[in-house]
Amino acid sequence: MRHLLSIADLSPQELSQLVDRTIDFKEGKVGEKALREKCIALIFQKPSTRTRVSFEVAINELGGHPISLGWSELQLGRGETIADTARVLSKYVHAVIMRLYKHTELLEFAKHSSVPVINALTDLEHPCQVIADLATLKQHFGKLEGLRLTWVGDGNNVCNSLCLACALLGLELVLSIPEGYDPPLLDKAREMGGKVEVRREPSEAVLDCDVIYTDVFVSMGQETQAEQRMRVFYPKYQVNRQLLEKTKTNSVVLHCQPWRIGQEITADVAYSERCLAFQQAENRLHSAKSVLEFCLLR
Ligand code: CP
Ligand code: NVA
Repeated sequence: MRHLLSIADLSPQELSQLVDRTIDFKEGKVGEKALREKCIALIFQKPSTRTRVSFEVAINELGGHPISLGWSELQLGRGETIADTARVLSKYVHAVIMRLYKHTELLEFAKHSSVPVINALTDLEHPCQVIADLATLKQHFGKLEGLRLTWVGDGNNVCNSLCLACALLGLELVLSIPEGYDPPLLDKAREMGGKVEVRREPSEAVLDCDVIYTDVFVSMGQETQAEQRMRVFYPKYQVNRQLLEKTKTNSVVLHCQPWRIGQEITADVAYSERCLAFQQAENRLHSAKSVLEFCLLR
């Protein structure tokens, strides 16, 4: 049994295999009903379109049965402990997929669960997203080796997972993030051998990069900081045509979506051929399958 709580739970080989398996699923090379007769719970404390729907469809397509639950529908909403909920659900289902505010609560659940737990986003990480993103880049460029990525914007959950993934795979990563907003897992990524450079000025940070990755300035749960965050990030950290023109001519833009058009990214970039966001979203379905297979069928 394996949990997937953090990208750091994986070895470089396992991450590469998950990426390749995602591409296999996309190319229709895997047909078996690997989750036949398996029930999988999805517990979402925050909204979700891509993650929740792609996991539900992935489970169905693999022959399993998804059970989607909101936090407040469960006794959790009335104060039952996370530990007891984990102990009880482990008796009914074969895995639990969770989107929670606090990463510490995900760790607490996993500690008491005897079935695999999959992180569907917390305040700290979004590992399933980054597996789909790497598959998107591998499909687009034909390889990951040698790619130089620049993250522009907030050092958030997606950025943390990207830092760890780049460290595992030896990819060059530049962070263009305002002071005070660096990703909390930056030091960990460096300890893992990650080549992470910090260049606060976006126009300098994107020079020679193959990939610009951005995400919202205000993540779920940070709504009360929205005004102050906008003052820090906007317009300096916006990915627009002018910034894109400073990169390599064949560079691409990633965004995990949902986006705030006109804030962290402009419409002309988001809806251009250079932006792979809808391929990333599509690949969430295939990465969901590779993650389920990895956690349940080893
Ligand atoms: N990218 C992502 O996780 O999207 P959702 O919030 O729609 O699941
Ligand atoms: N950083 C964003 C990602 C959403 C998929 C958030 O946590 O809201």
